[in-house]
Amino acid sequence: MIEFRPRFTAASLISVILLVGSSLKAESAVGVNWGTLSFHKLKPSTVVNLLKTNRVTKVKLFEADPGALEALMGSGIQVMVGIPNDMLASLSASTVASDLWVRQNVSRYMVKGGVDIRYVAVGNEPFLSSYSGQYEPYVMPALLNVQQSLAKVNFAGYVKLVVPCNADAYESTLPSQGAFRPELTQIMTELVSFLNSNGSPFVVNIYPFLSLYGNSDFPQDYAFFEGTTHAVTDGPNVYYNAFDGNFDTLVAALSKLGYGQMPIVIGEVGWPTDGAIGANLTAARAFNQGLINHVLSNKGTPLRPGIPPMDIYLFGLLDEGAKSVLPGTFERHWGIFSFDGQAKYSLNLGLGNRRLKNAKNVQYLPSRWCVANPSTDLSEVTNHMKLACSVADCTTLNYGGSCNGIGAKGNISYAFNSYYQLRKQNAQSCDFDGLGMVTYLDPSIGECRFLVGVNDVSSSSFQPVCWWSIPWVLIIWGFWFSVM
Ligand SMILES: *[C@@H]1O[C@H](CO)[C@@H](O)[C@H](O)[C@H]1NC(C)=O
Ligand SMILES: *[C@@H]1O[C@H](CO)[C@@H](O)[C@H](O)[C@H]1NC(C)=O
Ligand SMILES: *[C@@H]1O[C@H](CO)[C@@H](O)[C@H](O)[C@H]1NC(C)=O
Repeated sequence: MIEFRPRFTAASLISVILLVGSSLKAESAVGVNWGTLSFHKLKPSTVVNLLKTNRVTKVKLFEADPGALEALMGSGIQVMVGIPNDMLASLSASTVASDLWVRQNVSRYMVKGGVDIRYVAVGNEPFLSSYSGQYEPYVMPALLNVQQSLAKVNFAGYVKLVVPCNADAYESTLPSQGAFRPELTQIMTELVSFLNSNGSPFVVNIYPFLSLYGNSDFPQDYAFFEGTTHAVTDGPNVYYNAFDGNFDTLVAALSKLGYGQMPIVIGEVGWPTDGAIGANLTAARAFNQGLINHVLSNKGTPLRPGIPPMDIYLFGLLDEGAKSVLPGTFERHWGIFSFDGQAKYSLNLGLGNRRLKNAKNVQYLPSRWCVANPSTDLSEVTNHMKLACSVADCTTLNYGGSCNGIGAKGNISYAFNSYYQLRKQNAQSCDFDGLGMVTYLDPSIGECRFLVGVNDVSSSSFQPVCWWSIPWVLIIWGFWFSVM
């Protein structure tokens, strides 16, 4: 609910009423994560049009990226903006910092015709085991500071604070025994109490793909939604898929802290399509479609029958070729769309379209590629290839990837091209001591696509108004009304 306070200005009151008016109907929805760690970024306006074309009404950002937020202005799309983990320390240290963050990254956009920011994610998986607790001390203080800053500008009721957690925050062999990791008990108690008093959901990221990928004993069919020969029996309850089992483990963990009814949002869920075994189009489609159908069926889970997650945000919207491959060589291929906004497979998001629709008006670089020069001795090429692949993305070459079978020379060409496109087709970037050459024939082989980069020179979504667009329309209208 909106808090009415004396410092509420008329302008912000109007904007809040307009924002609230469009949101009275609350229902479980499918949204997407829009990550931007890519060498070939689509223009933000192209991405927002892609969201609109696909009727996506909820989007989650990992930062408060001005380009993305400007493009989302007036779109009516509900937005979760993120605060990166490395900002938590400064936000926890002072309300001056949190006031400034809120002003620059929330209030600025919460105006008429602005951005409908619904959530702020304070940190992203800050309790991940591999962070060894480094962000833990900052989470609660940062939450409280940002909350206070939101309250000062009267958005504390409208914009909910959340802390997306990795599913490694809790554990158990059987869902009903679920509990948060012992060292997290205290902070989780504080967190869920804060979320509860604030009317915020618990946000969790669930990845059955990672369970399958990281564990050769994990039953393959249990990761999907088509039924399993490895159902998990938990007292009176039977689990047929990993997603439900994981979800109910969280429900049990929340119950142990006294918040068994807390709404749950799935902040990230998805399946990668390339770069590793088990990451392929068929599996990704089966998982994502199975998940969406399951959630939209409102069946819920054994511990929450009839109550599906409040919202789910697919991970992700687009492939991000600049992501770290530390988690695995599949990491750059989570998109339901490729980096250039082209649907990878048929998917019904349950939002009105039967299948995904591609991005329109994508501005590609010219149709040319860099390949290994066939007339040179390529024995000296290893270092060039290593260097190219240390910067550009070559993960499709890996075992299980879409370009794995293209041979030694194909590998080299792929690496050269990936680098050449990353360098925006700069002529020198195809030199490689004379081992590379530019070609106008698409070297793609079968499923292995040699990409052409996109032109993201105008990274701001603010377009200059063409001299011929608005004035003439007004003049013609004016004329029309004057003769009526
Ligand atoms: C607003 O968010 C952006 C992107 O996350 C960040 O770079 C910037 O520092 C933030 N502003 C403030 C005042 O913290
Ligand atoms: C795709 O991945 C799934 C598991 O994720 C695997 O069962 C299937 O065999 C793979 N399909 C292909 C064509 O590699
Ligand atoms: C091509 O590169 C991949 C990834 O490094 C490797 O697995 C594969 O064996 C290479 N192919 C040839 C023929 O060298």
